Amino acid sequence: MSRDEFPTDVPAVVTCGLPYANGDLHIGHLRSYIGADAFNRALETLGQQSIYVCGSDMHGTPVAVNAEEQGVDPEDFALEWHRQYEETFPQFNVEFDNYGHTHDETNTELTQEIVRTLDEKGYIYEKEIQVAYDPEADQYLPDRYVEGTCPYCGAKARGDECDEGCQRHLEPGEVENPTSTITGNPAEYRDRPHKFFEVSEFADFLTGFLDDLEGTSNARNQPRQWIEDGLQDWCITRDMDWGIDYPGEDGDSVAHAEQRNGGGETADESDLVLYVWVDAPIEYISSTKQYSERVGADEYDWERVWKDEGEIVHVIGRDIIQHHTIFWPAMLEGAGYNTPRGIAAHGFITINGKGLSTSRNRAIWAKEYLEEGFHPDLLRYYLTTTGGFQQDVDFSWEAFQEKVNGELVGTVGNFWYRSLLFAYRNYEGTPDASVSEEVRERIEDAIDDVRESVNDYSMRGVGQAATRLAQFGNEYIQRNEPWKLTDDEPERAAQVIRDCVQIAKAVGVLIEPIAPGKAQALWTQLGEEGDITDAHLEDALEAPPRTFDEPGELFEQIEDDRVAELTENLEDRIAAADSSSPATEAETESDDTDASEPERMTDTEDLEALTEERIGFDDFQELDIRVGRIETADGIEGADDLARLEVDIGFETRQVVAGIKQLHDLDELPGTKCVLLANMEPAELFGVESNGMILAAGEQADLLTTHGDADVGEKIR
Ligand code: 2FM
Ligand code: ZN
Repeated sequence: MSRDEFPTDVPAVVTCGLPYANGDLHIGHLRSYIGADAFNRALETLGQQSIYVCGSDMHGTPVAVNAEEQGVDPEDFALEWHRQYEETFPQFNVEFDNYGHTHDETNTELTQEIVRTLDEKGYIYEKEIQVAYDPEADQYLPDRYVEGTCPYCGAKARGDECDEGCQRHLEPGEVENPTSTITGNPAEYRDRPHKFFEVSEFADFLTGFLDDLEGTSNARNQPRQWIEDGLQDWCITRDMDWGIDYPGEDGDSVAHAEQRNGGGETADESDLVLYVWVDAPIEYISSTKQYSERVGADEYDWERVWKDEGEIVHVIGRDIIQHHTIFWPAMLEGAGYNTPRGIAAHGFITINGKGLSTSRNRAIWAKEYLEEGFHPDLLRYYLTTTGGFQQDVDFSWEAFQEKVNGELVGTVGNFWYRSLLFAYRNYEGTPDASVSEEVRERIEDAIDDVRESVNDYSMRGVGQAATRLAQFGNEYIQRNEPWKLTDDEPERAAQVIRDCVQIAKAVGVLIEPIAPGKAQALWTQLGEEGDITDAHLEDALEAPPRTFDEPGELFEQIEDDRVAELTENLEDRIAAADSSSPATEAETESDDTDASEPERMTDTEDLEALTEERIGFDDFQELDIRVGRIETADGIEGADDLARLEVDIGFETRQVVAGIKQLHDLDELPGTKCVLLANMEPAELFGVESNGMILAAGEQADLLTTHGDADVGEKIR
């Protein structure tokens, strides 16, 4: 089915994966919320009626485990985080039309209603399965209460997700070598009756759904393999208290179960709550409903959108593709709702080239960014225009500085300021002339690029179209040199500046989805009335007001010393977190939305990830790895795990800091041959400069060495 391009005359709803209400927001979350916010704003700029809704994900073990750790009630715990999120999002210009939460009445009722409908339609049955149980804690171990090995890829996995490996959803009982996260004991498997949703019945439907689905290619293609491999039915209940109760009155479901089990024990529904992944996406509908109830169905009718015709777009992280392309559309179809038109799944964020890890403090926290006083639009621009949406995006303060200074200060800000200032000084505003053909066509091209990018679900494309237009503006003003024309060719000068003011306005309209705060500031400087958020693409070609006040600069250069300080602080705090665990290099962990490198696991020990991406020989050649000999080894005062080594590498002796203090007898090390990455960038750890990296294996930092006569200084190839 080919669909009409955006804008259509059917209302749209844009959603974003719900954040678990269980901890501070970081840059990984922001990539999602900002990306979806920009997409929604861009749709509106195209003239599409669209709303942006979301809510906090209050249930499940991600919340229960963290609440328990702090000894607080999960509801109070989750509500507190929910309140904080409500305050944080607007500070990044992320403006939801409705932001609810999964524990509210709307979502509780709608979830139970949808489950009842699925049950009535015969899509839910009961089956006895093996559930992990901790005899010492005397409790069942749903999801994050258990961890073990992924049966598909061998990575270390949580009870319900292979979060560090293949990213698959895991059913209860699937994880191998289960261990209780409560006591650390091996878990037992016990028989328990649970409710299942017959996803397998929807295989043909889902294939058709994917054929029509728009969005990023990972979301459209990955699920095909899962369907081809054969879909399993989905366990939708859990043995825990925190969550939405499984709805009662399901005689049908019990009868259904007896058929499959040949009679026997049936689940006591009062003990079961719904799996968090049932009620979480339903919040997309509930939040739309709350919006609709607030503004009135005449303005926005949630039932039309979700049950009749609506452009539904989900923006998610790539780790939750399966939930959104298999379980969710099957539930929607089964319960008689519309399915999404588009799903855009973004990659992860890495920090200084390594996986974001909240537990290792290798993250940029939302609060931290704001406390540094940076404008939210700088991060919005960085996150939306660095790399394609599906790609992992690396954040470093240096790269952030480069992007901001180069594109926002140097291109967009520079053009805005120089053209408006020239116009103000010479004409007190927009000169009386009409826009040239060349400039009109260039703006029209940029508008087309934006329209195309939105239809390709590419926010990067939107940002780039705006920046390229500003770049054109700079070239145009440079090429025409109006400052040389004002005296001798005043008409020509007025014409050039008229063009420039129009380009400046157009850049503002086009960049608004990405940088709404700065775009609004430009709008005000131009003397435009109202809100740039209400402007449409065509307004980019409408004349700006005849007069305006003296403009100011809208972007500020980020200085090198500021970046050096930010980088050092980040490195110090990562090193401090690392020094409290026996890591050498490149160790990553994942949490809810973290980028993670996959890990394999044998029966007894963890193995580090096999990186999927291959590198060329040239890349390998860039690593200057040498045979070295440790000359001295001393602990670094104040650092629990760090040692200062002097390593002879033939040409010179290098001082190196390594996280091996607790793992080796330092007195034994002098004289030992080792392997050193010699062209590692220098780093300072606890005030000691490190000029290379000693290679070591595993968590015990088993030092690599040579086994023949290789001389100190020899290159390893
Ligand atoms: O993975 C997560 O962080 C989940 N809280 C996302 C839920 S999205 C949804 F509701 F479908
Ligand atoms: Zn796996």
